[in-house]
Amino acid sequence: MKRKSPLSRSGRFTRGPAADVARFAESISFDRRLWRHDILGSMAHAQMLHKIGVLTRKELRAVVRGLDAIGREVRAGEFRWRVELEDVHMNIEADLTRRVPAGAKLHTGRSRNDQVALDVRLWLRDEITALLGEIADLQRALVLLGENNADVLIPGYTHLQRAQPVYLAHHLLAYVEMLERDCERLWDCHSRVNVCPLGGGALAGSTLPLKRELVAKLLGFVDASGKLQLTQNSMDAVSDRDFAVEFCAAAALLAVHCSRLAEDLILWASAEFNFIKIADAYTTGSSLMPQKKNPDVAELARGKTGRVVGNLVALLTLLKGLPMTYNRDLQEDKERLFDTADTVRATVRLLAAMLRNTRANRGACERAASDPALLATDLADYLVKKGMPFRQAHHVVGAVVALAEKKHATLRELKLEDLQSVDKTFGRDALGVFDLKIAMAKRNLTGAPGTKEVAKQLARWRRQLS
Ligand code: ARG
Repeated sequence: MKRKSPLSRSGRFTRGPAADVARFAESISFDRRLWRHDILGSMAHAQMLHKIGVLTRKELRAVVRGLDAIGREVRAGEFRWRVELEDVHMNIEADLTRRVPAGAKLHTGRSRNDQVALDVRLWLRDEITALLGEIADLQRALVLLGENNADVLIPGYTHLQRAQPVYLAHHLLAYVEMLERDCERLWDCHSRVNVCPLGGGALAGSTLPLKRELVAKLLGFVDASGKLQLTQNSMDAVSDRDFAVEFCAAAALLAVHCSRLAEDLILWASAEFNFIKIADAYTTGSSLMPQKKNPDVAELARGKTGRVVGNLVALLTLLKGLPMTYNRDLQEDKERLFDTADTVRATVRLLAAMLRNTRANRGACERAASDPALLATDLADYLVKKGMPFRQAHHVVGAVVALAEKKHATLRELKLEDLQSVDKTFGRDALGVFDLKIAMAKRNLTGAPGTKEVAKQLARWRRQLS
């Protein structure tokens, strides 16, 4: 595809090389979203420059006012971003200097190398906080669906084969637990994002008496105990992006959890399972088949995981083999990072909204959960309680299952004589094992899907998430 360069004139130079390079090298088309954090960082840097006598009080005031005005213009969509100025840092600084002569002093003791590291850290800090809020909301949506169907049982599966009965709430709470660990990982990552790199300069700090602590304090780079967090090596400060990798790794795992949840919902919404009904607003029709209702939101939640995992791999590959310290390659970190943050946030939010518009089909769940084969293990436990070694009990119940199959009957339909024809240990109370209500009352280990335990876990999460 041939596009005309704005600088093109005639003859063989249809594309001015400078324009090509500018287009190739620019990052303003995507890093402009750092504008708020770039301005914040510059305001703190300016205050510090005033403290050490580089900016007079008047100049500081002019710079802060100028930055403020730029911020208002950007927010109003009136700021003119210029590709020739490459990135968000140069665009803002150039515009400031056009308005305020003292703007030319703002870059004292600073490089775009430590500036961009600062901006990304400030941005990511906010992004993590916002994402944690969204995850908590998804957890609440899962808990709510569980509470609204507190007595609904479904088969639990292994190998996607019916295994043992569980409450629907128990299944949903499994995801609440996974999401909680995602929150812990993100919060842990936050502590390493929350370190101020400004003062690292291009790679070797500055000969000027900068007050790094003041900048860090102004920008809130403190840990939980109030201790200032500063990078301790100027080369590391401008060179590494491990904090971004960590975020993308935690986000990839979060996306994988969301994807598995989405897959369960897709299965459950199929006619074969029919455990749930997703509201129309969260499904789409088929352009060809009039009867279709497709769980597209869940499918996209599953599908988008691919790019989030890809972003993580892209970042790791980007860093691998980079010589110290800053290299322009690092500019390529942003789109992967932004895409990851945007994608997981949208996914988490949409899943939460969809769950709030999903209801359980009690009838279908009940039918599936009442399959007595789900309680075959309970029958083995019955024999164990009578003193039989488990391996033998397993074998005996296997024979009972085979007998039921031969008779084209369910386990529950067998007679006591049938059971005793396999093993005399079975007593009159043996068939009572197949009472689902009693069976669920017996599962009361911590973390088990028993009636009491699930109610307890629901209440715990309700408390913890409120
Ligand atoms: N846009 C650049 C980036 O994202 C900013 C730093 C540029 N520094 C430089 N020395 N060229 O990494």
